[in-house]
Amino acid sequence: MLDRVNAGTAAERLVIRGGRPLHGRVAVSGSKNAALYALAAGLLTAEPLVLHRVPAIADTGEMAGLLADLGAAVEISGTDVRIEARALSGAMAPAERVAALRASFLVMGPLLGRLGEAACPPPGGDVIGVRPLDVHLAGFRALGAEVAREGGAFVARALRLRGARMFLDYPSVLGTVNVLFAAVLAEGTTTIVNAAAEPEVAMACALLEAMGARIAGAGGNTLTIEGVPALHGAEFTIIPDRIEAGTYLLAGVATGGDVEVLGAELEHLDSLVSKLHEAGAIVEACEGGLRTRRGDTLEAVQLQAVPYPGFATDLHAPMAAALTQARGVSIIHERVFENRLLYVGELRAMGARITTGGQAVMIEGPTPLYGTGVRALDVRAGAAVVLAGLCAEGETVIRDVVHIDRGYAELESRLRALGADVSRA
Ligand code: UD1
Repeated sequence: MLDRVNAGTAAERLVIRGGRPLHGRVAVSGSKNAALYALAAGLLTAEPLVLHRVPAIADTGEMAGLLADLGAAVEISGTDVRIEARALSGAMAPAERVAALRASFLVMGPLLGRLGEAACPPPGGDVIGVRPLDVHLAGFRALGAEVAREGGAFVARALRLRGARMFLDYPSVLGTVNVLFAAVLAEGTTTIVNAAAEPEVAMACALLEAMGARIAGAGGNTLTIEGVPALHGAEFTIIPDRIEAGTYLLAGVATGGDVEVLGAELEHLDSLVSKLHEAGAIVEACEGGLRTRRGDTLEAVQLQAVPYPGFATDLHAPMAAALTQARGVSIIHERVFENRLLYVGELRAMGARITTGGQAVMIEGPTPLYGTGVRALDVRAGAAVVLAGLCAEGETVIRDVVHIDRGYAELESRLRALGADVSRA
């Protein structure tokens, strides 16, 4: 049973009657991105990998489906997933599956490591930018693979992967994880310089170590991997989702409420928390997470979305929605993806005063927002319109909810528990 709950249909709409400050407690799910990496890691061993706290969202269902397509036995029970990839049925990821999910390209590293061959069409996913794959492919080449485009797919082959020292042109998150997956089974030592340092990458390292890999430097920009002949099974719990946590913190701040986010880890959210403090919001530790309250006023701030530990690009759009309620002109400079600004038109339709110049967004506030019909154009643009809807007067009707469902498990029930008036039509 690979279908996950919460995978909405294109016709579904989220209806929010805004203007109520959120109050109460919300617990976040396991990290969507980290769970996708962990699921793909299941292909690296013939033994069972048991994962806990896998969020029940459409993307993890797609990834589980992809593993099954490749011959793994996958069992899902709530947020527990058991993968057993004893024998793989082939090295080619099916195009239909890959079109739905960018992270599906992550099967390349494990397939290459285990079978000496991997093939995958260019993956789909959010239209937030060009999203090239050169970092992944250069990494495989550095490990001795031959990489080519054959028909509709990228194909990598290597009789034996050999460890190497490599520099990533950009600290791509998926690129780092894919190369890491290939390197753990390579012969000898691999050093990845300019690796992504996101907590989800650090978690992938921890999982691989639990499976018998030898990795030094997890959480930093240089990873050193001593290849091993095979990995073994493991049982592992996914880290909480820092982006979901950040979104709920921002919902609390934006609505002028008082919200405790259980599972929010300060050490993963320093860049957000420091900006919220600068804006005048109160954010403090509470048992099991972080609590936020708006201070006397919310003031405009300036920030740049950059790789970790900088401000997360995935929190750019929700932060922009919250900043419509801050006094003064806020500026967000997006430096990771060139097409992250899809949310701007939707917030404008709700009354926000936002202008863009290149990759910078200027938000003048505070502005009253008004409910209207808007679209969730990608997962985080969707979160931005949800936050705006929670602040807005009247009814906000959000179309294309499938995008939001890709990143936020049980969104309506969690928001309702905080006192929001949200329903799905
Ligand atoms: C992952 C996350 C996404 C998050 C992003 C940045 C998943 C499934 N997605 O996406 O939620 O927003 O990290 O934190 O985990 N780039 C290259 N060459 C490459 C690959 C990427 O130049 O081979 C560039 C991209 O154009 C972009 C930047 O690197 O400008 C960031 O992309 P990357 O870190 O690869 O993001 P993803 O791993 O796709």
